[in-house]
Amino acid sequence: TNYEYILVSEPRPGVGQITLNRPKALNALCTPLITELNSALRDFQTSSTISAILLTGSERAFAAGADIKEMAPLTFSEAYQNSFIESWSDLTTQLKKPLIAAVSGHALGGGCELALMADILYCTATANFGQPEIKLGTIPGAGGSQRLTRAVGKAKAMELILTGKSFSGEEAEKWGVAARVFKSHEELIEGALKTAETIAGYSKVAVQAAKEVVNKSQDLGLRDGVEYERRVFHALFGSQDQKIGMKAFAEKKKADWSHS
Ligand code: HXC
Repeated sequence: TNYEYILVSEPRPGVGQITLNRPKALNALCTPLITELNSALRDFQTSSTISAILLTGSERAFAAGADIKEMAPLTFSEAYQNSFIESWSDLTTQLKKPLIAAVSGHALGGGCELALMADILYCTATANFGQPEIKLGTIPGAGGSQRLTRAVGKAKAMELILTGKSFSGEEAEKWGVAARVFKSHEELIEGALKTAETIAGYSKVAVQAAKEVVNKSQDLGLRDGVEYERRVFHALFGSQDQKIGMKAFAEKKKADWSHS
């Protein structure tokens, strides 16, 4: 498929990569870009060969936010009736395969929110995260006030969102926003691809279940969450891969997954 605002590739076995590619606007997330992103993610979701997905931008910008020029003239009625931004959530609701965001440079506003939607976030030490919407007379609109607050706690989230101050990749790692921080863009991409490859080497059904239960922890209370996990854990005794994995361990062999 030919896209205007993204690049799509399969850099490693089982790994799909989407690179945001609107360099003139620092990957500002205009509606057509999000439509393309959703389309590429849908293709990876239905692909029988792809097991993990990497989402990245350029060295200068992961994404500098939603497209301010597109939003500037919007009226309330237009935004409300067209459910502006709602399709961004496809990424979290439709995608069952793990998504790793690799962030270099600016990840501001909607760019920060997009990164926060990923299952694993990696970044460079000099990455520039922030929710600067307050400076534009608005607020985060793609989950930033919720996901950032869950990640860093209310004290820091409130300060960041009310001041619009940005934070570095190093801080993102220290505060639990990013799982790992890398020295350069090249090391970041290599590290993210290695992780994606590792995940792609495991049982698909187990990986999907693991992602599902961890994400449930963000919505459910502890008791319900633990019960949910146990139900899914029980269900996996019905999978071929649980038998394959445990038999391989006992026989000191490498598991050869069912790929179903
Ligand atoms: C549209 C953008 C843009 C954006 C940058 N550009 N960010 N266009 N929407 N969010 C465009 C600029 O207009 C400029 O185009 C080109 O990209 C290069 O940007 P410069 O500003 O010249 O680059 P630089 O001086 O290096 O500054 C980089 C920057 C700055 C600090 C990232 O661009 C910036 O502050 N951008 C806006 C960041 C922001 O406020 N994001 C939140 C948006 S609100 P021209 O044509 O002039 O060369 C938001 C709401 C989310 O995201 C809620 C729902 C999702």
